[in-house]
Amino acid sequence: MKVLVYGTGGRDQSLADKYGDSQHVDKVYFVPGNPGVAYTLKGKRGLIECFDIRDFSEVSKFCLEKKVDLVDIGSENPLEEGLVDVLNEHGIRTIGPRQQYVRLESDRAFTDDILRDIGVSKPEYRVFDDPEQAKEYVRNIGYQVFVKANGLAAGKGAIGCDDVPQAESAVEKLMVEKIFGSSGDRVVIEERKYGTEISFFVYLDGQHALPLKMFVQDYKRAFDLDDENAIKEFGGNLNTGGTGCYAPHKLLSPWLVNKIIKEIVNPTVNAIYNRGDLGLGWDYKGVLYFGLNLDPYNNLDVFEINVRHGDPEWEVLSRKLSTDLFEIGMAVWEGTLDQIYPVWNNQCYVDVVAMEGRSKASKGWNKGYPGRYGKGHQVVGLDQIDRGIAIYFSGVREDQDKGLVTDGGRVLHVIAGDATLEGARERAYRNIERISFLDHYHDNANCMRYRKTIGLEEIQHL
Ligand code: GLY
Repeated sequence: MKVLVYGTGGRDQSLADKYGDSQHVDKVYFVPGNPGVAYTLKGKRGLIECFDIRDFSEVSKFCLEKKVDLVDIGSENPLEEGLVDVLNEHGIRTIGPRQQYVRLESDRAFTDDILRDIGVSKPEYRVFDDPEQAKEYVRNIGYQVFVKANGLAAGKGAIGCDDVPQAESAVEKLMVEKIFGSSGDRVVIEERKYGTEISFFVYLDGQHALPLKMFVQDYKRAFDLDDENAIKEFGGNLNTGGTGCYAPHKLLSPWLVNKIIKEIVNPTVNAIYNRGDLGLGWDYKGVLYFGLNLDPYNNLDVFEINVRHGDPEWEVLSRKLSTDLFEIGMAVWEGTLDQIYPVWNNQCYVDVVAMEGRSKASKGWNKGYPGRYGKGHQVVGLDQIDRGIAIYFSGVREDQDKGLVTDGGRVLHVIAGDATLEGARERAYRNIERISFLDHYHDNANCMRYRKTIGLEEIQHL
């Protein structure tokens, strides 16, 4: 069987890698893909091959020519641009929602209103199109809030605010400075909840729901709490598109999984399939990502719903999943998910994200991700990585002279498994330390940065 995974980042590469593990699959096309794949085992063997095709009708032509059996789309942007609709018109099997269904992620206010109408718990919220009214609201509300861009913002559109000046500034950034473009034309201001953030994933086939009973938590903070350099440079409290993840989560229990399915997943999926009166009634085929908060009193709230896997959540979940992904994918397409029973291996996994750190610019210094960061730094040490460690690339390109170089703030993921979380952490950190990003303006000093605490809270029982 031949599978095509559409995407470029680490989550998309981990999808390609997982399909490459399938007993049914002998070829994975990763389109447009990323040049890091050529440095991995499956890339070198030609099992995963990248083709830089971006035009959707060309992707469709490619699928027909190569007789691709299944296409999986990893991220929200091609879904929103209608890739599934284009492929389905040509009879190509896909996993991922059609364009109109992406609204669940690309229009927060729409989804929040649905959740409220069907009685699924979520924090108090108000929607604003006018920045002055939004600022007036945060001045009067009294409690702490999240200010959220209504549209897509690569998982970074929610700004947590400790006080009124921060909330006013968040409104200004999203609605006036437009740091996420037109996604900030409208904002949702939501009561800030405290507790544990949980990412929970469910496959849908248009009739059934298959919950993945293995939730995880994204480490969204850019820095460790005790990172003094970060506190000096950035004030410390910055969110990113995810700096790491571990599995299984310390709170994972059948009780909590049942509670999530009963209180959140079942009513939401029922509405998606059946509630034409709410603008739904959809034959949704793909992944639903529930961003949840569990408070100290065991109350669950939905922060957001996305229409794809999480990044970096999927990078560890895909390693932990033993079930053949091609079998899940075909069941999504054929409407037979009720016949799939996911199996998880008994390993622990840790994903540490290597980011661009402080580097020398042609003039002055780059602070590093999530501030201004340098690019074009040679990535070295990949040949020193132990067997069994997965490396997935998020921000790299191939340079004619230097080979693989950095091309983004989050550059690559190092994922290690072991029988214990301590062991998985030790392996992940031992291997990431073998990788360097060479700062060519600064005597080739290593300008890579990563968080040191991924999975640590579990070990220390914090
Ligand atoms: N983990 C955040 C996201 O994928 O949006």
